[in-house]
Amino acid sequence: MEKSPYKFFVHFSFFLLCTFCLFTIYSAGPSTVDAAIKNFEKKFKDKTKNNWSDRENFVSHSGKYTLIEVDGDQDAEVKVDTVDGGDVKVKTEQHVLPCTLDEATQRLIRFIFNNDMFKEAMTSMNLDIKKMPLGKLSKQQIAKGFEALELIEAAIKKGERNKLEELTSKFFTIIPHNFGRNRPPIISDDSVLQGKKEMLLVLADIEIAQSLKAESEKAKEEMKDTVPHPFDQNYQSLKCKLSLMDKKSKEFKIIEKYLNATGRKGLTLVDVWEVDRDTEAERFRENYALENRKLLWHGTNVAVVAAILKSGLRIMPHSGGRVGRGVYFASENIKSAGYVCPSNNIGIMFLNEVALGKEYTITQDDSSLRKAPAGYDSVVARGSQEPDPSKDVFIELDGKKVAVPQGKVIKQQQYQGSSFFNSEYLIYEESQCRIRYLLELKFSSWS
Ligand SMILES: *[C@@H]1O[C@H](CO)[C@@H](O)[C@H](O)[C@H]1NC(C)=O
Ligand SMILES: *[C@@H]1O[C@H](CO)[C@@H](O)[C@H](O)[C@H]1NC(C)=O
Repeated sequence: MEKSPYKFFVHFSFFLLCTFCLFTIYSAGPSTVDAAIKNFEKKFKDKTKNNWSDRENFVSHSGKYTLIEVDGDQDAEVKVDTVDGGDVKVKTEQHVLPCTLDEATQRLIRFIFNNDMFKEAMTSMNLDIKKMPLGKLSKQQIAKGFEALELIEAAIKKGERNKLEELTSKFFTIIPHNFGRNRPPIISDDSVLQGKKEMLLVLADIEIAQSLKAESEKAKEEMKDTVPHPFDQNYQSLKCKLSLMDKKSKEFKIIEKYLNATGRKGLTLVDVWEVDRDTEAERFRENYALENRKLLWHGTNVAVVAAILKSGLRIMPHSGGRVGRGVYFASENIKSAGYVCPSNNIGIMFLNEVALGKEYTITQDDSSLRKAPAGYDSVVARGSQEPDPSKDVFIELDGKKVAVPQGKVIKQQQYQGSSFFNSEYLIYEESQCRIRYLLELKFSSWS
């Protein structure tokens, strides 16, 4: 049927069409230039039902080509060569300095900036990486995607179900998906909608990582004879100090014990880094007066790790979940590990110092929460189980005592009626969190 969004066959074929027409224009003599322009404008009209001269006010029509906002030059995707997994092109006349990072850190940097990993993440979210290649992601396109979702949200709220098919179709023209042979599903309820918002948040973070790489590339082109190693460049672009931890240290053992006690079987700790984001120490100091600090888990898609190291754990206008719009943490590794989406069985998780202050307890979902109730600093959705609190140890970080669970998970008699199985710890101010450790984990298969 005419209306199905995947028939909005866009992008490359249209780009080729434009290229071809422009080529015709430029290679033609003056007498044929006008004819070529006319020809192009006619083709544009045929394919899009829009006037080229009025493309500022472009309107998408069902079954026709549309215009897509792209960023940077058209060759962006092609230009990125894979040099030893570094995904960075090296100009031959420049001398590349040896990498200054230790081996484990090189491996980490290569992993979190790897284009194959980003593509895998996009494909697993049903995004069409042919129509939306990495090098062409743009902030404007993603912002338009969010706007399209907001229209869908409003239509769902007003019960205007007859509008949903067209609005969904508009969303899929802005953010091209690939559902294989399946019909694209109509976005018609809140949970599918929230899923799409989360997908766009991941996409926005992939765009951040791509921009970091593009900036490094540009900086390198301006350098003279010697350039830093690509891994060093990507590392520096994060503005975040990563220090590989000694596996024999006391802190490493405490972290490993926390993982062993609260994680699932078959999860192996590969390495741990201490994390020090450039601006985070200062921001965290605002909460110096807040006591009740705990080291808590945060798990996330590998595709957003570079963006988190660069920008921290953020509360976005479209974030959401069972405990509202805040930053989510867990006391059980197994809870956070569910959000990891490993690539080649490798996943990244964060341990964070969270200044919880006065905790407000809930035992039922409340997705409308936007801040802790007056007089409280955090919200804890109590799980019916929790790592045995009597076994917590305290480590000292910047002069503050921070609790670290070490005990096995036990039933919490007083919360047996809770709608939460595992506890979730929420803060609604980004400054109440300081990322302390990054863990590289091997997720062996489930069998
Ligand atoms: C395109 O331009 C023509 C002639 O200038 C005009 O008649 C027509 O209404 C325009 N179409 C659209 C879709 O703007
Ligand atoms: C954690 O579990 C692993 C694998 O079973 C084991 O080798 C390691 O010694 C344990 N570490 C701690 C600190 O309990």
